[in-house]
Amino acid sequence: MTKPDTHLAHGGRDPAANHGIVNPPVYHASTVLFPTLDALEARTRDRFRGVYYGRFGTPTSFALEHAVAELEGGHGAVTAPSGLAAITTALLGFTGAGDHILVTDSVYSPTRDFCDHMLARNGVTVEYIDPRCGAAIGDRLRPETSVVFLESPGSLTFELQDVPAIAAVVRAKPGRPATIMVDNTWASPLYCRPLALGADISIHAATKYIVGHSDAMLGLIVCNEASYDTIRRAAVRLGTCAGPDDVWLGLRGLRTLSVRLARHWQSGLVLAEWLAGQPEVVRVIHPARPDHPDHALWQRDFTGASGLFAIVLDAIPRPALAALVDGLRLFGIGYSWGGFESLILPADPAKVRSATDWQAPGPLVRLHAGLEDVGDLIGDLEAGFARLRTVGR
Ligand SMILES: Cc1ncc(COP(=O)(O)O)c(C=O)c1O
Repeated sequence: MTKPDTHLAHGGRDPAANHGIVNPPVYHASTVLFPTLDALEARTRDRFRGVYYGRFGTPTSFALEHAVAELEGGHGAVTAPSGLAAITTALLGFTGAGDHILVTDSVYSPTRDFCDHMLARNGVTVEYIDPRCGAAIGDRLRPETSVVFLESPGSLTFELQDVPAIAAVVRAKPGRPATIMVDNTWASPLYCRPLALGADISIHAATKYIVGHSDAMLGLIVCNEASYDTIRRAAVRLGTCAGPDDVWLGLRGLRTLSVRLARHWQSGLVLAEWLAGQPEVVRVIHPARPDHPDHALWQRDFTGASGLFAIVLDAIPRPALAALVDGLRLFGIGYSWGGFESLILPADPAKVRSATDWQAPGPLVRLHAGLEDVGDLIGDLEAGFARLRTVGR
């Protein structure tokens, strides 16, 4: 097996089968023609494998799925039109009326919204758990628990989960087996392999680092053998499929994922260290820093860090927060992350959790370290903190 960097360069493409052209072609397809009735019937029987109809996948989507599944040690992968669509497809594939599911309290808030509204309306009982529960998850498992949904690190607050400890308890539970899903977007397929840690499914908002340029929406569901058919069929039944040009942007992004991530990681740590020195910053939340409460898990289960982290500010008035954020020249104010550009986003985690408390003296601010010169980024933040101080604490 070649190393991940080599795989990123070569996975999912075969120039010899494509006139020697380096990149796979971008297939725009709905109808697929069959030469005979026999061929049509044979392919219909085997329609979840291979080219059958545009919505079932094309050689372009299969190329991305193949590359990412191999990178992450999966049996197969399924593309989705967004990260959230990947999450909802996976959840719908493994839940039905009467089921109970466990979801970490620091999960991405639209995932929570989907569970609370769509799944709950369909008769699924949704229970939120402490993202740091580890093996204590056993106390919450029920015979009818069908899914354990993790996100490590969690959105905004960056708690890590002990996936091997959780998986050991979940595998031993009485009743039907539960499927363990991990939103692995923060680490990307390169820096964490949840299937090797005991999960069944690893989900990516490929919109973030895999695409990497803030110009496409894309999701990926990487599956072990036991979950693959259910996920493939769920995607087809729901009618979700990613657009060919977005899939191609995912394939293109994959080639440079490693070099981009190394820079996001490095710059993120430099910014985090600088921010830790500001008197208004009461806490820096970055899993790769030794002061993070789950740093030991990060060291054990991850091979790198991306550029997304958070700080907690002292109790400052809103005009002071606005003074910090509004005048930034290089950090954009906006949702999402994983692109080449730096971003900043004030948020209130207390509004999007229900099972655990969020205690902080002031606002949380999430930062994404982009690919700009890190000295310039510090200069931008320095000017922002100077503005904050003129407004006063
Ligand atoms: C952790 C996480 N998962 C999933 C998503 C959803 O991805 P998308 O925006 O592609 O639907 C996001 C988006 O911000 C995210 O941060």
